[in-house]
Amino acid sequence: MADAGLAESVLERLEKLDCGVDSQDVASVLSVDHQAIVGAVKSLQSLGELISAEQRSSKHWELTAEGKEIVEQGSHEARVFNAIPTEGLSQTDLMKLPSGKVGFSKAMSNKWIRLDKGHESGPRVFRMVESIEDTVQDKLVQVQKGLTGKLDEKEKNELKKRKLLSEVTVKSYWLTKGPSFSTTVTKQETDLTAEMIASGTWRDKKFKPYNFEALGVPPECGHLHPLMKVRTQFRQIFLEMGFTEMPTNNFIESSFWNFDSLFQPQQHPARDQHDTFFLSDPAVAKDFPMDYLERVKKVHSEGGYGSQGYKYDWKLEEAQKNLLRTHTTAVSARMLYKLAQQCLQEGRKTNVEKKEGQPNKKKRGGRRRKRNNEAAGKFTPVKYFSIDRVFRNETLDATHLAEFHQIEGVVADYGLTLGDLMGVLHQFFTKLGITKLRFKPAYNPYTEPSMEVFSYHEGLKKWVEVGNSGVFRPEMLLPMGIPEGVSVIAWGLSLERPTMIKYGINNIRELVGHKVNLQMVYDSPICRLDS
Ligand code: PHE
Repeated sequence: MADAGLAESVLERLEKLDCGVDSQDVASVLSVDHQAIVGAVKSLQSLGELISAEQRSSKHWELTAEGKEIVEQGSHEARVFNAIPTEGLSQTDLMKLPSGKVGFSKAMSNKWIRLDKGHESGPRVFRMVESIEDTVQDKLVQVQKGLTGKLDEKEKNELKKRKLLSEVTVKSYWLTKGPSFSTTVTKQETDLTAEMIASGTWRDKKFKPYNFEALGVPPECGHLHPLMKVRTQFRQIFLEMGFTEMPTNNFIESSFWNFDSLFQPQQHPARDQHDTFFLSDPAVAKDFPMDYLERVKKVHSEGGYGSQGYKYDWKLEEAQKNLLRTHTTAVSARMLYKLAQQCLQEGRKTNVEKKEGQPNKKKRGGRRRKRNNEAAGKFTPVKYFSIDRVFRNETLDATHLAEFHQIEGVVADYGLTLGDLMGVLHQFFTKLGITKLRFKPAYNPYTEPSMEVFSYHEGLKKWVEVGNSGVFRPEMLLPMGIPEGVSVIAWGLSLERPTMIKYGINNIRELVGHKVNLQMVYDSPICRLDS
């Protein structure tokens, strides 16, 4: 109980009275704050039927600050009247008095004073009566004494209009004795203990009734980090759109899959120590599909598939270097290669069945087309997505860390165009609650054309970059064995950025890393993206 002493004082007060009493009156008799009495009443109510308390609200009149000033110093008009000597006062001087303006007009309409406009020394004000009765002050004094009843409604409303009185509503309780009224408060037991049962004392104890309205104690449980909550929502969006999740459980990748397979030249600045974390142990990867690796080498150094390539000396050692993957597009590359291999195997099986016994025609330059065409036989469109961690050797600041999460979507089908990419991006971002999109031409070694995606941020009132996208190059897809005519559109964005916007976090270090306040993790609500 908050204050057992106060609760007992309330009971004693009730004891003395036959009828009931208003909690406001109890507060003024005991000279404590009404809120404290309300607290005592609430705890008494929880003890059963000691008292009954009926809530009611009453209106009463209170003096405003100006009203209180008038009680002390008289009304403005009285102050003006008193300031005027028998020989009168110039109107200019009178107006300079603190109550001058209001007091002058009121005193004029009361006919207490008069204005002589034609006076030789300029407009002058004279008293018109010997003495005055300051009724405004008198009425306010009555209100202050609590004798509001002496004033009629019209009078009260006039004073209210002059902002000297205000009507306030007070919520209070009408208190009466309850069926089990007593002036002493006995502590109620909240627990039935083994000792009470053994000794039999439970028979004489009073037990506190259950409060089924009370909020329960929140159960101890684990909490998901906001990034994981937002990830769940993105995953949901992809699943709704019919995408399948790619396996992204390898943070370590070879340069081959992270860069070379994506037609990213070996001299590209991203492949520098300053941008990429290379592994020292194991420093190199050795297990590659060698025929595919040869085709990648060829397209980089000599070209092919209608491309002139980069014309440089492609080195296996560079492709072997292990690294912490810099983007999840490495996984997309592995998946597209795998897809091509599956199509190829299926296609070969059916070709063997069809062409059994037929002699093998061999044409120059026809091998590659044959491989891609065999794959074509069994190609089925796919929609893939991934959401996982990537690493970059970045300078750390409020919005950059050396590791973050990427969200990536990939669609492969015959004849997909840039229009399909824009359409799918619109569909995807609409599901995030982002409808205004703009595209800006960009460059990626593995996509052509490439587009940065901007959305209009209503809060910041400007266009902000939300992702990167493009159509994968034939130099990347054809060496894999993806059938000719199949285009692959893809896009990527970070998970951290929408999470920071969603949860109102300005510094990434408050979201990820050793400075994270765990309470932030506990208190963050689940993520709902408004679609
Ligand atoms: N891999 C790109 C990045 O790291 C994103 C991207 C994915 C761009 C797919 C185009 C296509 O920023």
